[in-house]
Amino acid sequence: MGSAMLRKPRALAKMVAGIAAESELPVTVKIRLGENDKKINVDTVVSFLERAGAAAVTVHGRTAEQRYKKAADWDRVSNVARSHSVPIIGNGDILTHYEAHARLADSGCTAVMAGRGALIKPWIFKEFKEVSRLVTG
Ligand SMILES: Cc1cc2nc3c(=O)[nH]c(=O)nc-3n(C[C@H](O)[C@H](O)[C@H](O)COP(=O)(O)O)c2cc1C
Repeated sequence: MGSAMLRKPRALAKMVAGIAAESELPVTVKIRLGENDKKINVDTVVSFLERAGAAAVTVHGRTAEQRYKKAADWDRVSNVARSHSVPIIGNGDILTHYEAHARLADSGCTAVMAGRGALIKPWIFKEFKEVSRLVTG
């Protein structure tokens, strides 16, 4: 149902604007690149969400139809991150703390989100923090 809303960016934005207006907390939205390879509309959707008052948008670098058949398209995620002012949280295929650091450094995303990586290694976040501490001193 969440992915189905990608077909209706205006309705999605209206819903987000309504929630954001009533919420005391920042409202973030998680989306995919589009419904399928022929209907990639992530840029349009992010523009709508930005105007609707989303505090950040998580972009999973796959279409709804792809499921996990292909690698997440980080070129597209990165392109979105670099061309919108709303903070973008990149998501897809981050299975280790070193991939999280590399994507954060290279993609232009404000943050990254791990899905299955946290199921495989629930301590991935601890490792990420520990390595950050080593890197930043
Ligand atoms: C068991 C499971 C449940 C998920 N449930 C949701 C969900 O309810 N909403 C959502 O937006 N994404 C859901 N996802 C997708 C993940 O949040 C994430 O976008 C996707 O797995 C890609 O990230 P990854 O490659 O780090 O796993 C789910 C994924 C898994 C494996």
